[in-house]
Amino acid sequence: MTKIKPFKEPIYIIRPVLAPLIQVYKKIDEIWESKWLTNHGNQHKALETELTKYLNVDNLTLFCNGTIALEIALQALELKGEVITTPFTFPATVTSLFQKNLKPIFCDINPDDFNINSDAIEDLITPNTSAILGVHVFGNPCDVEKIEKIAKNYQVKVIYDAAHCFGVNFKNKGIGNYGDISMFSFHATKIFHTIEGGALTYNNSELKELLYLLKNFGYGTKDEYEILLPGTNGKLNELQAAIGLLNLQLVEDEIKKRKHLTQVYRENLENVDGLKFNVEKQNVMYNYQYFPLLIDEKKSRNNRDKVYDLLKKYNVFTRKYFYPLCTDYLFFKKDRDYQLPIAEKITTQILCLPLYSGLKDQDIIKICEILISLIK
Ligand SMILES: Cc1ncc(COP(=O)(O)O)c(C=O)c1O
Repeated sequence: MTKIKPFKEPIYIIRPVLAPLIQVYKKIDEIWESKWLTNHGNQHKALETELTKYLNVDNLTLFCNGTIALEIALQALELKGEVITTPFTFPATVTSLFQKNLKPIFCDINPDDFNINSDAIEDLITPNTSAILGVHVFGNPCDVEKIEKIAKNYQVKVIYDAAHCFGVNFKNKGIGNYGDISMFSFHATKIFHTIEGGALTYNNSELKELLYLLKNFGYGTKDEYEILLPGTNGKLNELQAAIGLLNLQLVEDEIKKRKHLTQVYRENLENVDGLKFNVEKQNVMYNYQYFPLLIDEKKSRNNRDKVYDLLKKYNVFTRKYFYPLCTDYLFFKKDRDYQLPIAEKITTQILCLPLYSGLKDQDIIKICEILISLIK
């Protein structure tokens, strides 16, 4: 340990955005008055309308979480066989494929933004490929234009896991406009949240009724006793929708503050040999959901795992996000020799540092001082 004193209180990777309680009480009052707690009530309708506008998309459907939303997206697009995806993601991206009996085919990632390498996708396409499932990792958009071209050429669908991407724009368009369907997560750790929740955005408005059916047990909209499809329960309740309406008012400020804190991180870590972070791209409006960096074990006194452990002694709680790779899950049986050198390297070097609006500049500066002392 260096002479730097640990933080008195734990600094977690993230703290949820919390709307003022007085506003929450008012919303609960409204909901109690309505006597309507779930099943697409007024709060739900209002949130769908507001999010459609905020995310700048044509169609949006709410769900109880991002994972169920993604599973329903795969079902709605009637995918079969193989889906090309990334091993560098949260388990839900890939477990959703297993849930729908789809086979993940893993493609390597880019070293600079950690997204699926669009130049390596075509080599993995076979007659069994039905879709490409990209993840906009840490809010960085995938190479959406190239992926669209490939998808058109080979007549396959494109789904994006945009769980990290609330409010991100690419070329002045909401990121949810790219691909056939995009999934957003509204988990409490996300920049915009409904405690648990999620949404699908899509260009084809004909999907609306199908998605409604699939998240509502398969009940048809015309005959209330008719079950048309094997659906599930993917509904978002009124209390959570109300929290979403309140949080939506806070999101701009949260992004602004995180942008500033990200700048403080960058200024303090910029020239440290052994540390690397992604460069911001032109044409992207970011949301500053995470602050990931890479620790090069060859240039650092401690490798990523050691830094992660040592930071805890200073009361700083980071995340090895994403580690392990999906190809290393116990239940995953590798039936081919995957070539994933970049993903295999990045997963041993990546570390996400604390980032949320409640942090002060001095907190970030101190985290950087501690980190540098562990690297140099
Ligand atoms: C990349 C990614 N995909 C999917 C999910 C799952 O979303 P949810 O927690 O809303 O089910 C997450 C959750 O954090 C995620 O980070």
